[in-house]
Amino acid sequence: MERVNRTIRAWRIAIERDPERIRSGLNRAFPLLLGGALAFTIGFGWPDAPATSRASSSDATTGPEASAEPIRPIPRQMDLDPQKVALGDRLFHDPQLSRNGEISCASCHDLQMGGTDRLPRSLGIDGQEGTINSPTVFNADFNFRQFWDGRAADLEEQIDGPMNNPLEMGFNWEDLMARLNADQKYMEQFLLVYGEDPTPARVRDAIAEFERSLFTPNARFDRYLRGDANALTPDEKSGYSLFKQYGCIACHQGTNVGGNMYQKFGVLGDYFADRDAQKTSQSRHRSSSQQGGDDAHRAAVAKADLGRFNVTGREEDRHKFKVPSLRNVELTPPYFHDGSAKTLQEAVRIMGRYQLGVTLPPRDVDQIVLFLKTLTGEYRGRSLQIEDARSGSTQNDAN
Ligand code: HEC
Ligand code: HEC
Repeated sequence: MERVNRTIRAWRIAIERDPERIRSGLNRAFPLLLGGALAFTIGFGWPDAPATSRASSSDATTGPEASAEPIRPIPRQMDLDPQKVALGDRLFHDPQLSRNGEISCASCHDLQMGGTDRLPRSLGIDGQEGTINSPTVFNADFNFRQFWDGRAADLEEQIDGPMNNPLEMGFNWEDLMARLNADQKYMEQFLLVYGEDPTPARVRDAIAEFERSLFTPNARFDRYLRGDANALTPDEKSGYSLFKQYGCIACHQGTNVGGNMYQKFGVLGDYFADRDAQKTSQSRHRSSSQQGGDDAHRAAVAKADLGRFNVTGREEDRHKFKVPSLRNVELTPPYFHDGSAKTLQEAVRIMGRYQLGVTLPPRDVDQIVLFLKTLTGEYRGRSLQIEDARSGSTQNDAN
């Protein structure tokens, strides 16, 4: 235990000096932590990513209780430009941003569905299937990088991805500029916000500002962190204790309960070999017509499994992914970059097995899931949970 505490102290200091390198290096140090710390019940505060998040300074944030915990509450206010947010909102929901006018950002990041499409893999223009599960846009600004493999540094940079991806919006900036220039209302709005005509940089700026408005404060867990001991039930509190004791917290922590480091999927077992073995045995029972998808698409999906390796080409980055945020996670099934886990229970069991090398007893899984459900927050003053329950799985956007 002492050794573990010392290691953690050393990391904290090192992370402050060189966050990106240390976070990605945590994977190598992880077995050390695991060795002594499967039962660690400590509360240690990890510094958050130096993201551009603009927590409002007027937001009275953490009390003494909160600062001792490895998870931080989401700020209750952000300093944002309302006119940029309004313009970004319109762009985000506008299918004119895709080549054939069919697909908007919101098609795959539906704010009524936790900011995702609830599909294993997204569908882009002409109904084409993508290669990876769509993560939520809620709280994305609190992630230290964007995309599963972290290939975009920030929200502005991220936008070029879907814009140019032939399986997503299949479009380009030049033609989009022509479309916006032909639209009187957009021209007026850009003039109002920027005093100038639309440019790719201004489109990126407005959409990113809108995405920064997609923060979800006041989750019950955040109220607990801010000192309201009654915000959680005893079972939910036990779930949080288990989350720390088993060591989930080593990877899922900070403001986003994730989103601030890369980790291998399959630290203590070969997730990919087991998954593919299972798939092969299942597909033997199906007719060949059900096994859709051509070879090129299958290869692209297999490539997506390589994670950060696709960005760096380094062997040590094979199957490494940005640890996803667990904020609002109950709203965003199916789980994992491959959309393979249909329920939170299943995702938690797999995490126990492949990230921690333990078979979690069903009761512990249930309590951890109860804790995870307390991470559901509010968007524009309304609980995402209630919103969601009322509307079911409608295609409508929140606006
Ligand atoms: C066809 C579906 C689709 C469309 C359209 C789409 N996205 Fe995405 N989005 C995805 C998928 C899939 C990913 C994950 C890709 C990856 O990590 O390689 C993603 C990732 C992201 C992320 C990163 C989140 C994180 O945690 O890493 C953000 C932010 C985002 N999209 C915003 C947008 C915006 C803004 C638009 C419109 C300009 C947009 N998306 C259009 C499917 C889509
Ligand atoms: C060694 C780091 C590590 C540990 C420990 C860990 N996780 Fe994860 N977790 C990850 C990574 C990486 C992913 C993304 C895997 C993927 O999809 O490729 C993930 C994904 C998840 C997801 C799916 C999120 C989504 O939106 O798809 C859930 C839920 C989750 N973890 C919960 C837990 C729980 C509960 C524990 C403890 C029992 C835990 N994790 C332990 C690294 C970790």
